[in-house]
Amino acid sequence: MDPIAEFNMVGLSYDGQIDVLKDVNLVIRNGDFRFLTGPSGAGKTSLLKMIYLAHKPTSGSLSLFGQNVANMPRSDQPAIRRRIGVVFQEFRLLDHLTAFENVALPMRVAGVNQLDYRQDVTELLTWVGLGRKMDALPATLSGGEKQRVALARALVSKPDLILADEPTGNVDPIMGERIMRLLVELNRLGTAVIVATHDLALVRRMKKNILRLKDGTLTLHGPLKDAAPAGPGTSAASTPYTEASATGDRLDEAEPEAARRSS
Ligand SMILES: Nc1ncnc2c1ncn2[C@@H]1O[C@H](COP(=O)(O)OP(=O)(O)O)[C@@H](O)[C@H]1O
Ligand SMILES: [Mg+2]
Repeated sequence: MDPIAEFNMVGLSYDGQIDVLKDVNLVIRNGDFRFLTGPSGAGKTSLLKMIYLAHKPTSGSLSLFGQNVANMPRSDQPAIRRRIGVVFQEFRLLDHLTAFENVALPMRVAGVNQLDYRQDVTELLTWVGLGRKMDALPATLSGGEKQRVALARALVSKPDLILADEPTGNVDPIMGERIMRLLVELNRLGTAVIVATHDLALVRRMKKNILRLKDGTLTLHGPLKDAAPAGPGTSAASTPYTEASATGDRLDEAEPEAARRSS
């Protein structure tokens, strides 16, 4: 079976001068779960955008479901996009539509009859814990609730891969944890998941493999270990997480620990 996504020496430059991504090699297969970490500006969003066909590589090759994106006919793109669900930090819900209608929208756009998606939408909203809020407008929902609507919308086309770009960035920590648990549960049910995040505390708790971007280069690491009590020689990665510490700089300091562990 073809991998969902296969990067072969992929480079990306927006201006033809600075390489945002360099020589990226990466294979995402069915059932994979990966965190994508790295300081702000490292290229996490850019990498995800290539997977959802918003940007093409400047060099190297990227295949999605065995099809090279460089020579993919435009007419093939909608089918590929339906196999890849995306969740954004800022939710991107339509304000004038209810939770139900937001989740149903991709189906409506694809011309599917309401009778054929009604039950799926209801089940998805129930699964994310919003069975009672199906008729609510986004303005009346909390950040965590909006993000769960966005997750249900990303799932409605039954994608093989979910891309979540900083999905916990605009929700409180408890909701962030809940959204992360939903993503892990989803992965257990078979969907591949890539989560771009700054939140090292969450990354550590989830014990999943990590893709680390730094200076345009991607490396794969094993799960981060639990935070050890602070002491001599303790690296920055084991200091307790706080909102203020969730900066790109701190992620930089955490890298040696991740690198050591995978070696
Ligand atoms: N559309 C764009 N045009 C030009 N430069 C961009 C564009 N999108 C991102 N960049 C630049 O590419 C680099 C990586 O950005 P991004 O992928 O958003 O990083 P991250 O998601 O890790 O914060 C940054 O230097 C950013 O300014
Ligand atoms: Mg980003």
